[in-house]
Amino acid sequence: MDFGLRNRLSRIIKPETGHTVMLAVDHGYFLGPISKLEKPGQTIEPLMPYADALMLTRGVLRSSVPAETSVPIVLRVSGGTSIVGKNLANEEITTSMEEAVRLNVSAVALSIFVGTEYENQTLTNLSYLVDRGQDYGIPVLAVTAVGKELEKRDAKYLALCCRIAAELGAHFIKTYYCDGFEKVAGSCPVPLVIAGGPKLDTELDAMKMAYDAIQKGAVGVDMGRNIWQSPHPVPMIQAIRAVVHEGVKPEEAHEIFKEKRDQD
Ligand code: R5P
Repeated sequence: MDFGLRNRLSRIIKPETGHTVMLAVDHGYFLGPISKLEKPGQTIEPLMPYADALMLTRGVLRSSVPAETSVPIVLRVSGGTSIVGKNLANEEITTSMEEAVRLNVSAVALSIFVGTEYENQTLTNLSYLVDRGQDYGIPVLAVTAVGKELEKRDAKYLALCCRIAAELGAHFIKTYYCDGFEKVAGSCPVPLVIAGGPKLDTELDAMKMAYDAIQKGAVGVDMGRNIWQSPHPVPMIQAIRAVVHEGVKPEEAHEIFKEKRDQD
């Protein structure tokens, strides 16, 4: 990997700990204005000091993030579908690499839909993006999306998706946590981060998931709803940081959360 790629990746995965807490706020690209992300700028602003990277689309970046920010940007560059449309898997590349360079991003992200009708299309999108990323020194995050078919969220399937993404050249990969996650991480030769998925019942549940993922080989999280749909998003991201960067156990992180929440 050449200097530009490594340098950009090291802005996201912090060399001090080898870990990252990415904040995902790209959901509107197919879900529209979901709960607590109706005004993205308001959601993002208080969380920015605690995010190692922001994952979002160019529209939200331009409209809702101050250009003075030093938080690295992971730009979502796939889409073209919606939750009310025919098939979420039918994604294309929506943003050029030149635009990503203009926006001074640290990485680009796209989803792949392995096992769907659009497997070939989304995997060749990934290969194309990796080639373009190599041209410009911009790392590519492959998101092993499962669309509406969440029942596929098991270790065998996710290990398959992650390995294929790595083989096609993805520089890092975002997947879901699952039972047997060590098999997913253990057979993937590039760094993995986990999505949080839909909001869990409690903050502690999300801390446990993050802790287990790190213990089993993830380098971090790219978490959205379990942070900003919490009634206390700032204490939540602070507690998640303690889990990811300091290896704090979930119960202890939950105490940090409660302490910060009570000061909020
Ligand atoms: C889904 O593909 C989106 O890219 C989100 O970034 C991703 O699901 C992570 O957010 P959450 O933690 O809310 O699942």
